Amino acid sequence: MPRLIRAALERAGVGGPDRVSSGVDVVGDIAIVRLAEFNRREKKRVGESLLDQVKNLRVVLEQEGGIEGEYRLRRLSHLAGEKRTLTLHRENGCAFKVDVARTYFSPRLSTERLRVAEGVGPGEKVLNMFAGVGPFSILIAKRAGVRVTSCEVNAYAAELHEENDRLNKVEELVDVINGDAMGLPRLVRTKFDRILLPHPSQADKFLATALELAKKGGRLVYYRHLPAVDEEEAAKMLRAELKGLLPPKSRSSLRRVRDVGPRWIEMAADVRLPA
Ligand SMILES: C[S@@+](CC[C@H](N)C(=O)[O-])C[C@H]1O[C@@H](n2cnc3c(N)ncnc32)[C@H](O)[C@@H]1O
Repeated sequence: MPRLIRAALERAGVGGPDRVSSGVDVVGDIAIVRLAEFNRREKKRVGESLLDQVKNLRVVLEQEGGIEGEYRLRRLSHLAGEKRTLTLHRENGCAFKVDVARTYFSPRLSTERLRVAEGVGPGEKVLNMFAGVGPFSILIAKRAGVRVTSCEVNAYAAELHEENDRLNKVEELVDVINGDAMGLPRLVRTKFDRILLPHPSQADKFLATALELAKKGGRLVYYRHLPAVDEEEAAKMLRAELKGLLPPKSRSSLRRVRDVGPRWIEMAADVRLPA
């Protein structure tokens, strides 16, 4: 949201937008900003300006550094407004309870989630190996009316996922497993038509497990962060990686999801496994 941060900087009188490297993430009524170049007083002024500017905003947090660790969490500190990290986020006709400090969530993936959900056909069995608080799984269950199994290692994210299932009235369709996706072949007794691997920094390590769980002729949606200058270079890297990991005669179509940093691109591969 570059326009929002530009307006907040102007209103706070702290200098030009060339001082910030990214926009604002708005999750429910919480805004998350990155303001590494500013001093503490300036940051607070930007936080207050955002609260004045955006009607339904109640909290402004600063993110320091990237998304880190096994649970893919942001390091956050309070800048303005109420002191909390739990909120209710609405997207694509669903509502998600999210704790932005203790669970992963990115509002920037809403279009991607819709795209994936729209591709799911009737009667498919879907597995999401890295489910977070449920934004992919719940949208799929709600739109396609199919059964979804979600796996999530962060116990609090899995708990919020179950709450979100009830909130969106899909608790009869979605099963949440709190555990390591690597152990799924021992836990689930079925094979899946479609498997999602939305863990772009680690998905390659789990591809063999996904293949064990996929039906013949099944589909994978595989995400990767790649250090590339453009989509062409990123696609070349992803194609080379998949060649070494997928069974022969698999077909993949590759696409750019978003830019995730200077010279880092998130790519998706829609894979069709051989029958
Ligand atoms: C990039 S986030 C994506 C979450 C969710 N799909 C979304 O879009 O909001 C990756 C998630 O995988 C979880 N995770 C990491 N390692 C895992 C593992 N070995 N097994 C299951 N979940 C894992 C993290 O806790 C995190 O919630």
